[in-house]
This record gives sequence, structure tokens and C-alpha cells, in this order.
Amino acid sequence: MRIFSGIQPTGRKHLGNYLGAIVQYVEGQDRGEAIYCIVDLHATTVAYEPVRLRQRTLDTAAILLAAGLDPARCILFRQGDVHEHTELCWLLCSVTALGELNRMHQFRDKSAVQRELVSAGLLFYPVLQAADVLAYRAEEVPVGEDQREHLELMRDVATRFNARFPTPGSPRSATGGEGTLVVPEHRIPTVAARVRDLQEPERKMSTTGGSEQGTVYVLDEPDAIVKKFKRAVTDSGNELHRAPDKPGVSNLIEIMAAVRGMTPEQVEADLAGARGYGDLKVAAAEAVVEALAPVRERYLELRGDEAALEQALAAGAEKARVIARETLADVREAMGVGPPRAR
Ligand code: TYM
Repeated sequence: MRIFSGIQPTGRKHLGNYLGAIVQYVEGQDRGEAIYCIVDLHATTVAYEPVRLRQRTLDTAAILLAAGLDPARCILFRQGDVHEHTELCWLLCSVTALGELNRMHQFRDKSAVQRELVSAGLLFYPVLQAADVLAYRAEEVPVGEDQREHLELMRDVATRFNARFPTPGSPRSATGGEGTLVVPEHRIPTVAARVRDLQEPERKMSTTGGSEQGTVYVLDEPDAIVKKFKRAVTDSGNELHRAPDKPGVSNLIEIMAAVRGMTPEQVEADLAGARGYGDLKVAAAEAVVEALAPVRERYLELRGDEAALEQALAAGAEKARVIARETLADVREAMGVGPPRAR
């Protein structure tokens, strides 16, 4: 089983990224061949500072390593180091419908808040994301709920490519389901697939759209985490169980379940003796501090050694390139680009 996922180096990584994605990346190392990419090229699609982009990339690398990614058991690299991603992105544009890109929710949301320029990069963002995954012929993509639409597009692109450019001599590819590219499946967690902002629980936790007090960062100090949970907006009533009209309470229960590795039902049963929302907030805060404090400590150790981080990313890119190069050669061959492939 080959697993691939990508994470942006923009902003500070928060509890949504941690529970929705990073925990799954770590676990993926035990289930298959795991490949993870820090997507610096995606981060250039909105306004950004070049110097900070480099810093954020190293911040993100250190967070991922601190959370448990092990370069001996996975490939961790920076997207911009492997040029095959951008070439494949261009080639895949030929089988991507403009209308689909225009309809993407993230494109609509992000373009609405750009002040100076809505870049073409923002529109093509999902094609580069498709290239990220398809370059490795990955079968599974661990992501949070907000990436579902991008994953659907990626599957369409792969299927369309296989149908449009069947591999010569491969009858299987005529169906469009199989061929040069692998059509990947998403892996969205059952709990905490969409962690919500603690202040505005109708919205997802996010570095760009959320509230500062409602966003718990992986690198927050324990006191700050406790404060944010204590101030979390809950709902009317005092029952400690999930319900559609209780987004705040449901969010806290899901967070606790994900952090503790329990089901939400078990958390609700454990809370049966609790005295109300106050107890729930304290319990959730404690669980999150327990999970994040060691990550923060390891991060502080790792982040100081930039040369070691750069070296780890460079070594990851070497390994990634070997796989991506092979796929690109097959894609060029199938599309008739460049000279025939030497066998
Ligand atoms: P990014 O960097 O925004 O988010 C990284 C991962 O965190 C998940 N996530 C959440 N999960 C639960 N609750 C939340 N509130 C929450 N917020 C974010 C995201 O679903 C994601 O899995 N486009 C991608 C990066 C990307 C990528 C890829 C992902 C580029 N290429 C290839 C998969 C495969 C993104 O912006 O993630």
C-alpha cells in the first residue's frame, strides 16, 4: 500500500491539521510505504513573503518530525525540490476541465478574500495537488474532510488520463479505471475529520478563516491551550452528548475522542458523572495538552538545527524523485511528449 499526503507550510499548524491529518501520517508509516510532502509551491498561490515561506517550510518539517514522522520509515520532502510535480501538473491540465476548477469551493472561498490578485495559480491549485499524488501512483491519501472535493477531482483526472491515453498494449487501460496512473482513494478519519473553531463552532478550525482564540496551535504552550478550551463557546442546555444543534459540545467530545483514541460514545459514557460543560472543557484541555506538550518539546529541539532539517528534506527529495521520474517517463510516453522512451 502506497500512501501519500501533502501539507501546506503556510501559517501555524493547528489542532485540525494535527487530528485530521498529522496523526494519520504517523500511523501510515506502519501500514505501508508512506510519502509526505510539504507543499511550498501551493503556498505561492496566495500573497506571501519569500523569506517566511522558507522559515515556515522548516517549521512544518520540524512539527512533522516532532509528531512522529521518521525519515527511516517514510519519505518526507519539499514539493519544490522535485520538479516532476510541476511538469506533471502541466501535462494533467490537458485532461482537467476548466469548469470543474471554477466550481471548487476552496477556489471560490480563497479567491473571494484575495485583496490584490486572484492568481491563476489559485485556480490550478487542485491540478498541482493531483500531480503530487499521481506522480507516486499512491493508492491512499490521508486528509481531513475539507480536502474531499480536491480528492474527487484528482480521481476524475486520473481516470480521464487513463481513458484518453491508454498505455499501448494494455487492454486494461481501455476501461479508464486502470492504466498509467493509479486512481487514489481518500482516507478521511471517522472522528475529527473537521475540527471546529472553539469560538465559532459552526466554522472549521483554520489559520486563515478562524478566530485566534478559537484556534489551538500545535506549538501553543500548555497554559494557552487550557485558556482557549476554558473559553470555548458551548451551547445552551447542559447535556454532555453530541447533537446537530450542539456544534460546540460535539466538537469538544470529538476532539477528546480523537486525542484519546476512543470513540465519541465512550467519551460520552465517561462524562456521565461530569457536572456540566465546565468539566468537559477541562477534560478536553487536559487531553490535548497531554498529546501536544511532547510534540512542542521535541519541536523546540529539532527546529534549532536548520542544517539537519534541510538535510533531511534533501534526502527525502532524492528518494521521492526516483519514484516520480519513473511515472513521468510513462506519462510522457503515453502522451507522445518527447522522444520515444528508451527501453
Ligand atoms: P492544509 O495544509 O490546509 O491542511 C493539511 C491537512 O490538515 C487537514 N485539515 C483539517 N482536518 C480536520 N479539521 C480541520 N479543521 C482541518 N483543517 C485542515 C486538511 O484536510 C489536510 O489534510 N491542499 C492541501 C495540501 C496538499 C495535499 C496534496 C493534500 C497539497 N497536495 C496532496 C493531500 C494530497 C492543503 O491545503 O492542506
